[in-house]
Amino acid sequence: MDSFKALLIEERDGKVANSFVMLDKSRLDPGTVTIRVAYSSVNFKDALAATGAGKIIRRFPCVGGIDLSGVVVESADSRFKPGDAVIATSFDIGVAHHGGYAEFARVPGDWVVPLPADLSLYDAMALGTAGFTAALGVVRMEENGLTPEKGPVIVTGATGGVGSLAVDILARRGYHVVALTGKESEADYLRNLGAAEVLLRQDLDLSKIRPLDSARWAGAVDNLGGDILAWIASTMMQGGTIASIGLAASMKLNTTVAPFILRGVSLLGIDSGYIGEPYRSAVWKHLASDMRPPHLGKMSRKIGFDELPAIFDEYIAGRAKGRVVVEIGGA
Ligand SMILES: NC(=O)c1ccc[n+]([C@@H]2O[C@H](COP(=O)([O-])OP(=O)(O)OC[C@H]3O[C@@H](n4cnc5c(N)ncnc54)[C@H](OP(=O)(O)O)[C@@H]3O)[C@@H](O)[C@H]2O)c1
Repeated sequence: MDSFKALLIEERDGKVANSFVMLDKSRLDPGTVTIRVAYSSVNFKDALAATGAGKIIRRFPCVGGIDLSGVVVESADSRFKPGDAVIATSFDIGVAHHGGYAEFARVPGDWVVPLPADLSLYDAMALGTAGFTAALGVVRMEENGLTPEKGPVIVTGATGGVGSLAVDILARRGYHVVALTGKESEADYLRNLGAAEVLLRQDLDLSKIRPLDSARWAGAVDNLGGDILAWIASTMMQGGTIASIGLAASMKLNTTVAPFILRGVSLLGIDSGYIGEPYRSAVWKHLASDMRPPHLGKMSRKIGFDELPAIFDEYIAGRAKGRVVVEIGGA
């Protein structure tokens, strides 16, 4: 390999742009493990980064793609050897260190996780950061005492990547899952993933959110932030647990302390980006076993490397559904 194909994100005249380029091997970033990339994926963050819709990139130019799976070709780290199948997600990948939208990537060994047995390189990217985050949210909520017997769990942004995977994982664990979506046409999709009920965002009255309202949820996985998260906080049951994951609707949160001090509600911040061991390997092992989403195949689809840039607009417009796997070199 002297040079390799990559989707490079650059800043030109204050504007962010992405384009396919051939990079010389010397442009690989520092690291101890060099990986031939088999698959990457598309997350909301990838779309924000590649289009400049969000200030995600911390170093220009940067190869996009916060997720990758592939096979080690060179390693100076004793934990990995050539031929090993691995996953690398999060940390600086695709935001301050060349990422998965490239035929090759070189990363620090601490960012690499061995591919769990029973998980294919494709499945690892059908899960990707979205699956890792959804499972981390469930792990953290259960550590905080959430069980299916405590009551219903609401999932917002339900048709998106994190949302679809959270619905699937929670349903398989026996939870009564209520999916909140803006897409009326996708109610059957969500029921097929295991949602017991589907609520439409447009049917909620968010104009007057009371400090405390009727208690409905034992748990919540929130991908949206803003008024939706404020409404969720006000409708949590006594001792309920919220996993705050995303900001697809808004970065802001205007709420009161009432749910926290009068109902003992916990607001758990979920950051999959920089959480290290022991969580990182443990969550991937859960995803390959007791938290494996039963409908992963149905909710994911594959696109070619060249199809990548055109897809980002779907994510920015909130039209994304399920998971998109990008075939780079293939398995
Ligand atoms: N904390 C972390 O470590 C972490 C990790 C991964 C992702 N995230 C965040 O989690 C969120 C979801 O990520 P993702 O990759 O699953 O995104 P995604 O696949 O693009 O899905 C987001 C979903 O949210 C809903 N939505 C989008 N825009 C909206 C808007 N303006 N107002 C209301 N709803 C909107 C839509 O679902 P419906 O139509 O079904 O509502 C959409 O499909 C993002 O904010 C992402 O940045 C955080």
